[in-house]
Amino acid sequence: MADIQLKGKIPVAVLGATGAVGQRFVKLLENHPWFEVTTVTGSERTSGGVYSEACRWVLDEDPPEAVGHLTVQDSEPNLEARIVFSALPAGIAKDVEPQFAKAGYAVCSNASAYRQAAGVPLVIPEVNGDHFDMLEQQRAAQGWDGLIVTSPNCTTTGLAMTLKPLDLAFGVRQVFVTSMQGVSGAGYPGVSFLDIHDNIIPYIGGEEEKLQAETCLLLGRIEGTERFPAEIGISAQTNRVPVIDGHTLSIAVKFDRAPTAEEAILVLEGYEGPAAARGLPSSPEKVIIVRREVDRPQPRRDRNANHGMSVTVGRIRKCPLLDLRMVSVVHNTLRGAASGSIMNAELLVAKGYVK
Ligand SMILES: NC(=O)c1ccc[n+]([C@@H]2O[C@H](COP(=O)([O-])OP(=O)(O)OC[C@H]3O[C@@H](n4cnc5c(N)ncnc54)[C@H](OP(=O)(O)O)[C@@H]3O)[C@@H](O)[C@H]2O)c1
Repeated sequence: MADIQLKGKIPVAVLGATGAVGQRFVKLLENHPWFEVTTVTGSERTSGGVYSEACRWVLDEDPPEAVGHLTVQDSEPNLEARIVFSALPAGIAKDVEPQFAKAGYAVCSNASAYRQAAGVPLVIPEVNGDHFDMLEQQRAAQGWDGLIVTSPNCTTTGLAMTLKPLDLAFGVRQVFVTSMQGVSGAGYPGVSFLDIHDNIIPYIGGEEEKLQAETCLLLGRIEGTERFPAEIGISAQTNRVPVIDGHTLSIAVKFDRAPTAEEAILVLEGYEGPAAARGLPSSPEKVIIVRREVDRPQPRRDRNANHGMSVTVGRIRKCPLLDLRMVSVVHNTLRGAASGSIMNAELLVAKGYVK
């Protein structure tokens, strides 16, 4: 683990703690070595209530007792915390997150409100942790004592983590991607049973645009606070399917230098990411797990690999139109949301942006 000397745990708040992603944060932070949840917030509907009663808990394991006793607060920047994890709807996050950054909090956001905004890093530590280098200039330009960093859309996380090692080794040029996304990706209560049972919904509002734009930002580079998206052509089709957790991506890729399937497998299996992303409390043992069985990965069997932090890739084979085809599975509320954001916060601490 990264050799970080902290004077006690850092107090953190979870904004939108009563929702699907907020609950993941609360559970994941239960025994975190660096962070301790001191505050939870919700909407007018839950604010003022005791968390364990106000929150309709949807995870299999019980909520942590210490957080269960907390009173749900409003999402206002007067909370006892140095880091705030935002699991707010984008429309609310747009107003609230800058208020927290201005008031000196480090905001680690899951919402889409600022992912594509100038000067705000969109980061997966193993893909582009160096984009945190924008933060000094972000603070100076905005006059903030705090900061905002964002995590990508859950589906984007699976695609960007799969493509990064391949892009470094072979140069990714074009991608066709079709997603099969679990229902927890729509939050709670999400899609109605009558709509999703025995069915597939071939539309998720705004998802295809996010998947295309965010992936290019993650694989792109920065100069100062300016981001230069990777010049990759991406055509995305996104679908909601009757799976609870886990997003599955069927991907075809064209490269600058086409690898064989075996060369791609070796690159994916060997990928460790930048040194700064290794050894953090949430760093997985392996960034990418490659399955060689003909029928893997599958969301039910592979979404929890390495506590839901690894992306599992399989069915890597030649594509008759582009160069290679493959299938990836990512856990949408863990690596694709709460755990990814916690790892971003760990990297912020490791890089000295939060003390
Ligand atoms: N689900 C995923 O897989 C996933 C993945 C990546 C990113 N995200 C993003 O993460 C965010 C949360 O998603 P989710 O799936 O957890 O949604 P959700 O289940 O609908 O939860 C929304 C949370 O925000 C709170 N909230 C709603 N309106 C509010 C207001 N006006 N003021 C303050 N709090 C308010 C809710 O509180 P109440 O309970 O009091 O209503 C609840 O705690 C979204 O921006 C989403 O796009 C989700």
